[in-house]
Amino acid sequence: MNHAIIDLKDITYAFPNRENALNGLTFHLHHDDKLGLFGPNGAGKTTMLHILMGLIKPQKGKVELFGKTMADGKAFDEARLRIGFLFQHSDDQLFCPTVLDDVTFGPLNQGLARDDALNRATQALEIVGLAGFEDRVPYRLSGGEKKLVALATVLAMKPEILVLDEPTTGLAPEAKDRLIEILKGLDMARLVVSHDPDFLAATTDRLLVMRDGCIRPGELKPHTHTHIHEEGDIPHQH
Ligand SMILES: Nc1ncnc2c1ncn2[C@@H]1O[C@H](COP(=O)(O)OP(=O)(O)OP(=O)(O)O)[C@@H](O)[C@H]1O
Ligand SMILES: [Mg+2]
Repeated sequence: MNHAIIDLKDITYAFPNRENALNGLTFHLHHDDKLGLFGPNGAGKTTMLHILMGLIKPQKGKVELFGKTMADGKAFDEARLRIGFLFQHSDDQLFCPTVLDDVTFGPLNQGLARDDALNRATQALEIVGLAGFEDRVPYRLSGGEKKLVALATVLAMKPEILVLDEPTTGLAPEAKDRLIEILKGLDMARLVVSHDPDFLAATTDRLLVMRDGCIRPGELKPHTHTHIHEEGDIPHQH
C-alpha cells in the first residue's frame, strides 16, 4: 500500500515574538516520492523539516509519520530511527570527538552490535569518499568535508527515507557529482531541499515551491535542457 510516510496537516508555527514562519502548511510524501523543495531564503523550509523531525513543536496542526500520529516525544524517537535527516548546518549534526564516533552513533542508536555499526560506518565513509577520515576531529574539518561526514552519518543508518536540507552547500563540483551518483543509486523515498535546480533535476522527480510559510499547490517537473548561446557554438546543459 502506498500510504504517506510523511503527512503534515495544517501546520502553523511561529518562533517566539515573530510572525508565523509556517502558515497552515500541508505536505505529504508517499513511498515512491522523490520530491524536491525550493523557495526563497527564510520561506520556512528548514522550519518545516525541524517540525517533521520533532525538533520543534507546531502551535497548530498534526504530524503523522509512517502512518502514526506523532503524539509525543517517544513516537518521534522511534520515527527518527527510520529517517535519514541531513541538517542544513553540519555542526548541528556532528557532535562526537571523532568522525568514526559520529558515523557509528546512528547505527548503535538503532540497536546494532558494535562490529556491525563499525562496518556500516566504514562503508558509509567509503561511499562518500572519506575512507581514512575515521580518526579526524569533526569540528576541524572543512565545510565540505563536514557535509560529507554528515551525509555518511545518514547513510550509515540505512534509513527508509531521506530528508536532506541543502545537501550540496559547500561541496565542490566533484563531491556534488558523487552525491548525485549516490542518490541515483538509492531507490528510496526522499525530500530534498535545495537552491540548486540542477541538483534537484538530477535527484528528484517532482518539485514543490515554498513561499511565505506555505507550499504552493501544484508542482513543477525538474528538467535539464541543452542550448547554445549566440557567442559560442558549444552546446551545454542547464
Ligand atoms: N531560531 C529562530 N528564531 C527566530 N526566528 C527564526 C529562527 N529560525 C528561523 N527563523 C526565522 O524563520 C523564518 C523561516 O526560516 P527557515 O530557516 O525555515 O527558512 P528557509 O526556507 O530554510 O531558508 P534558507 O533557504 O535560507 O535555508 C525566517 O524568517 C527565519 O529568520
Ligand atoms: Mg533552510
